[in-house]
Amino acid sequence: MKRLLITIDGPAGAGKTTVSRELADRLGYKYIDTGALYRGVAFEARYAMVGQDDDIGLENLCNTLNLNFVKDERGLRLLSNNSDITDQIRTPEISMMASAVSARPVVRKYLLGLQRNLGREKGVVFEGRDMGTVVFPDADKKFYLDASPRVRAIRRYRELESKTSQTVEEVEREIRLRDENDRKRETAPMKPADDALILDSTDFSVNEVVEMMLSYISN
Ligand code: DC
Repeated sequence: MKRLLITIDGPAGAGKTTVSRELADRLGYKYIDTGALYRGVAFEARYAMVGQDDDIGLENLCNTLNLNFVKDERGLRLLSNNSDITDQIRTPEISMMASAVSARPVVRKYLLGLQRNLGREKGVVFEGRDMGTVVFPDADKKFYLDASPRVRAIRRYRELESKTSQTVEEVEREIRLRDENDRKRETAPMKPADDALILDSTDFSVNEVVEMMLSYISN
């Protein structure tokens, strides 16, 4: 069967990561988490003390970055200049910073090239916010996965539980703030592509969502 390029966009906590990973496994495809790349830029900007709205500083930083993915027994890992930063980019602080730097056109331009390069080989599931709209407008199958903000906050809270002192209400507040940043930015705002299948995962299990996707892909 023809190997496809599949995109899954949507807001934080909608289940994109779990669903994308599972869908890629079921199809024997690779899976790319593009949010990790924005988190990688945010992490390196923080380390280099470059401000979230310092476009020149961000551009210089991007020009020296070397971000890439490797897969090991723990799953997809993000390397920055060959050091594994996967576990350090999943904090609430880096989430908010990633959302802020992702609104800067210089950062989006840098990551656009990197993401398109990763998509040259077919048989991939790309997860993000603008995969179906901007990065891969010609993708073979596009999905937009959503869920209610409360359910998304509960899911994110469970993921973070051991790593954060935040309450579920605080997580929900941050998620709503990040949604607003990601939807309202001028460059590549988060929205469903016109030709995306929109799925709401609020009342469905991962397996049910993946089954719906597989049936849509095979039609
Ligand atoms: O998916 P995530 O929560 O790891 O993404 C972190 C931030 O990165 C998110 O708030 C917005 C940004 N992002 C983006 O703008 N475009 C993408 N394709 C992926 C993520």
